[in-house]
Amino acid sequence: MNQLFITGGAGFIGSAFVRLALAELPQSEVTNFDALTYAGNTDNLEGIDAEGYRFVHGDITDRDAVMEALGQGTDAIVNFAAESHVDRSIASADEFVRTNVLGTQVLLDCARERKVSRFVQVSTDEVMGSLPEDEREFFTEESGFSPNSPYAASKAGAEHLVRAARHTFGLDTVITRCGNNYGPRQFPEKFLPLMIANAMNDQPIPVYGDGRNVRDWIHVDDHCRAILLALRKARAGATYNIGARNERRNIEVAKSVLDQLGKPHSLLTFVKDRPGHDRRYAIDSSLIESELGWKPQETWESGLGKTIEWYQTNGDWVERARSGAYREFYAQQYGSEVKAP
Ligand code: NAD
Ligand code: DAU
Repeated sequence: MNQLFITGGAGFIGSAFVRLALAELPQSEVTNFDALTYAGNTDNLEGIDAEGYRFVHGDITDRDAVMEALGQGTDAIVNFAAESHVDRSIASADEFVRTNVLGTQVLLDCARERKVSRFVQVSTDEVMGSLPEDEREFFTEESGFSPNSPYAASKAGAEHLVRAARHTFGLDTVITRCGNNYGPRQFPEKFLPLMIANAMNDQPIPVYGDGRNVRDWIHVDDHCRAILLALRKARAGATYNIGARNERRNIEVAKSVLDQLGKPHSLLTFVKDRPGHDRRYAIDSSLIESELGWKPQETWESGLGKTIEWYQTNGDWVERARSGAYREFYAQQYGSEVKAP
């Protein structure tokens, strides 16, 4: 891979992927194309100064901007750019449809026109809906689509467009579907960084519903290693589920965070449930393990410890992320149930 075009590389996972790609493919040219929405942050790119790296400020729905930034001879597009927060999609779905659906189609069209060799769509386990609390059932690559939130539906729509580009036009595509990522630089609207930031400041932690919903957590670097491997080695047309076999109930995760920070469980505050809240995600990742030899490197204990430490030593990053528009979002999302930071 000599020329990579990464979209959404100023976000949480995209910025981790940019770092990994530059470290693993030091000869390559990496373009990071990002609109810098509220979730995109050039702070996330601090310290990246490789010769082959360039940042382009642009929107994936803007065809001309994408065509201008997309060089001839690009080997691959890896599409991270998205609106990614379920709660925001419940409040308003417009931006989710625009970026996640329309933006993906724009990228697919540009990929064909520029004869890009491979298109990797970074998707989510949420396109497959919710599993019952029967621990023997898992999402596999054969599980049907059953998206329950506007976010999940927009990501499912994007996957359909990627599939159609392969079927109709023969574009070389790969789709990855991962579960809940955690790690450094995650915007504190998501549960894990929100808990860490609130607990660090002795503020209440809002737990939706009964707190017994299950998520399958994976360290962001393990997710990125899986995407890089898929980019380099996957069969054309493949879809891979990515997970670390790490199912946890939200309440259990919350208590672990509080215990590691030495904060009291009395900070846990049960609030009204998320509408349509998916009960359980659990991923069977045996296909990527057997076909590509991928395995997660972090354990939950090692990964969570390092993650909490990162937020503790990067208090400035946390406070910048929690300032300005974040306070409005927070007040709207949690109302009077949980006081804004
Ligand atoms: P994020 O919200 O942290 O970052 C999204 C990035 O996309 C930001 O840098 C933002 O500026 C950029 N962006 C948004 N709209 C854009 C547009 N129109 N044009 C160009 N750039 C735009 O998201 P994340 O958590 O890093 O997720 C990245 C991708 O991974 C998403 O596609 C998401 O659906 C997928 N994913 C996330 C998780 C997770 O747990 N966070 C799990 C599985 C899959
Ligand atoms: O599974 C992959 C998905 O994981 C990604 O596709 C999404 O982009 C990502 O945001 C994430 O979605 P979730 O909805 O699972 O993540 P979130 O961090 O919003 O919530 C995790 C769980 O915690 C979920 O059951 C809802 C709950 N929760 C969340 C927040 C923000 C709370 O109890 N309180 C909260 O304040």
